[in-house]
Amino acid sequence: MSLPFSLAAPDPAALEQGRLLFAGETRFVKGVVAMDGLPDGDRAEICFAGRSNVGKSSLINALTGRKGLARASNTPGRTQEINFFVRDGLYLVDLPGYGYAKAPRDVVARWQGLLKTYLAGRQTLRRAFVLIDTRHGIKPVDDEILGLLDSAAVPFQVVLTKADKVRPEAREATLAQVRAALRPHPAAYPELVVTSAETGNGLDTLRGVIAALLDP
Ligand code: GTP
Ligand code: MG
Repeated sequence: MSLPFSLAAPDPAALEQGRLLFAGETRFVKGVVAMDGLPDGDRAEICFAGRSNVGKSSLINALTGRKGLARASNTPGRTQEINFFVRDGLYLVDLPGYGYAKAPRDVVARWQGLLKTYLAGRQTLRRAFVLIDTRHGIKPVDDEILGLLDSAAVPFQVVLTKADKVRPEAREATLAQVRAALRPHPAAYPELVVTSAETGNGLDTLRGVIAALLDP
């Protein structure tokens, strides 16, 4: 029997589909600050959610092979809009981080409200990828977002980031913590992906997972 929340291992066909999907150009479409600014839901959509500074924008850049596409930064709270990127038949969505307390309170409240409305209300969202730092595991603030995704019945999949920053033992400890924390969440997809935007580890796997979500 396979472990619940085993590591994703797309088959060779899916890996090839993923390679092809990300071979062409990805373009920035728009940054959105309110739900009425969302582009028409005329294609499949995936989004990258996670705590501030977890590496959402860096992962989008690494997946698409374009360093400056999504704005990544050392300063937490960098991404303040819902940023839409497009490629064949797919929107990739970079979300503002949650759990960042240093911005003015009204600003945080506005982003978080938008984030939650988007996550719960976007009809064309195929899957939310929830990014978790391999050094830290799932924190209460992540769990709150996972609960929101459960109640909105949005399927989500956990992607561990910054795997280059930890030793294999620490990585295994985080995987165990994440597996236990995901058990109560019915919307959790039962496979995990471990990535590093720095070394490129796990990116081909994640591309394959994304390609498998699209219609043939
Ligand atoms: P917000 O937009 O503020 O929510 O942050 P974010 O989740 O988009 O994070 P971002 O991609 O801006 O990355 C934050 C910091 O982590 C940057 O300094 C990145 O260079 C660094 N970083 C991101 N991914 C990795 C990784 O895989 N490995 C390492 N070592 N650093 C990373
Ligand atoms: Mg960002």
